[in-house]
Amino acid sequence: MSELTAGVTVSADPSAGFGIAGKVALVTGAASGIGRATAELLARLGAKVTAVDINGSGMAGIDLGDSGVTDVADLSVPRACDQVVASLLARERRLDILVNCAAILRRVPIAQVDAALWEKMMDTNLLSQFAMCRAAARPMRKQNSGRIVVISSTAAFNGGANASSVYAIGKGGSLALAKSFARQLAAYNVTVNVICPGGIDTPMGRFGFTDESWAAHYANNVPLKRAGQPEEVAKSILFLVSDWGSYVTGHTLDVEGGLMLR
Ligand SMILES: NC(=O)c1ccc[n+]([C@@H]2O[C@H](COP(=O)([O-])OP(=O)(O)OC[C@H]3O[C@@H](n4cnc5c(N)ncnc54)[C@H](O)[C@@H]3O)[C@@H](O)[C@H]2O)c1
Repeated sequence: MSELTAGVTVSADPSAGFGIAGKVALVTGAASGIGRATAELLARLGAKVTAVDINGSGMAGIDLGDSGVTDVADLSVPRACDQVVASLLARERRLDILVNCAAILRRVPIAQVDAALWEKMMDTNLLSQFAMCRAAARPMRKQNSGRIVVISSTAAFNGGANASSVYAIGKGGSLALAKSFARQLAAYNVTVNVICPGGIDTPMGRFGFTDESWAAHYANNVPLKRAGQPEEVAKSILFLVSDWGSYVTGHTLDVEGGLMLR
């Protein structure tokens, strides 16, 4: 093994659990939907997961195994992001995996968007991702290893359906953010990738739909003829944070049933 590949593990044995066992993982937005499914999947594969969300009661019942921890924080505030990472490091002494799922969706026509809405959306959806990546990068640089996933959206490419323009603008920022971190952290053996979910069956995904309009929308617009399940996104995230994704960085992976076919 050369100096360049020292510390890189490449296992082709599926029973090795993707190399997740024992890894220290931090998942944001873990009270609900994709974040929750990801936190639980990583924990099931043996990671020590810290699940963080602004909604503490929403994390009741989350199954993180014996070594899981929940933390409550408003991640739209960079100081809170630093604090979440500092508390995790005080406990675990390292951070291997960061998955940024926390976000909100508001549907407001552009003409009615005011500074307060802009700030709320950008702070919650984009500044939080920046602050979490920045905080996670410090220990990952020192370790010379780490995996980061940032959740964007197909909205970043289609302008945001049903007046979700500010959301879409922020999700476009997530793409550039991930590439910037990917470029700067590659020298430290840290990968940074983006997932772009399409319509996923979570409270955010169903927002503004009735059960009927939800099913009809996906049957008519998505090649796979259905919305996705949060666990299906979690499995794609798993690939990117596992040994199996070790040579993938700066990539954008669509998990959208063929909605965009790009
Ligand atoms: N569901 C979809 O159809 C869909 C599509 C594209 C992208 N996404 C993205 O996937 C990610 C997960 O979305 P989801 O569908 O699971 O949504 P969700 O609403 O089920 O979960 C989002 C979680 O983020 C938390 N959160 C919100 N503001 C926060 C803050 N300030 N600090 C900490 N936590 C906060 C919420 O409490 C919630 O638990 C988001 O980034 C979302 O934009 C979702």
